[in-house]
Amino acid sequence: MVKDFLEGKPLRHPLHPMLVHFPIGLFFLSFLFDLASLVFPSQMYLVRDSFYAMLLGAIMALVAAVPGFVDYTDIRSDHPGERTATAHLILNLIIVGLYGINLGVRSSMLSDPRIRTGPFVLSLVGICLLCASGYLGGRLVYDDGIGVGRHKRHMPPPRDTIHLTVPIPGADSVFVPIMAAQQLRERETLRVEIGGQIMTIAKIDNQLFAFQEFCTHRFGPLSEGKFEGFNVQCPWHNSCFDVRTGKVTNGPAKVDLKILKVEMREGKVGVPLPRQIKST
Ligand code: FES
Repeated sequence: MVKDFLEGKPLRHPLHPMLVHFPIGLFFLSFLFDLASLVFPSQMYLVRDSFYAMLLGAIMALVAAVPGFVDYTDIRSDHPGERTATAHLILNLIIVGLYGINLGVRSSMLSDPRIRTGPFVLSLVGICLLCASGYLGGRLVYDDGIGVGRHKRHMPPPRDTIHLTVPIPGADSVFVPIMAAQQLRERETLRVEIGGQIMTIAKIDNQLFAFQEFCTHRFGPLSEGKFEGFNVQCPWHNSCFDVRTGKVTNGPAKVDLKILKVEMREGKVGVPLPRQIKST
């Protein structure tokens, strides 16, 4: 319940990207007051105003950090964006620490007519790091799809990828059993990697379907998609594909999905794969 709130599910929008505007805006405002104090030293309250803008910014940064941390713990362990998210988190902690030091230094200078060099340089470094961290945050959303479309799916997405090897490398066609597929619940998915090929296995209407994991539009993870009838909807920009045929049923994707047959052989569920899939 609390986690759902912190992930922004009631608002249908992630909370962290909404809240980060406040500390970013306030830290920039504080920097502008600093610059103004250098240009107009006769205006007595600019250094004080800068201090309070920074203090409010630091408080809002801590508030925004809570849903940000919840989003971070939700990233699956093999997600390509996990390292970027860790760098973003560490950078933000450094920024808050830096502003904490800056506030401590400034607290005894509130009646100065102009900002002194030390706290001004600390602010300048803080602003540069803030830009770098904001860039990483943008990459997490636009390149890695973190925080995009998470509120749409009822079943939890798979947390890890199952790695399987091709049993007889070099054979014309091989059958790869996927034991975990037998335990799937209705509309649940698995993410499976076999010989470098990543696919989604989904159970719909008591039947198993296998199709390529990454959407043909911008590579959204379809194992985290939502199902409507026999359609899987990409969590990033809502393209839909019929999992029986791979056909696009709704854009922006234009290219059909590659699908694989799921078969039962000798009591085992699995997929037959052509020769080009190499053994790992
Ligand atoms: S990545 Fe854009 S719709 Fe799937």
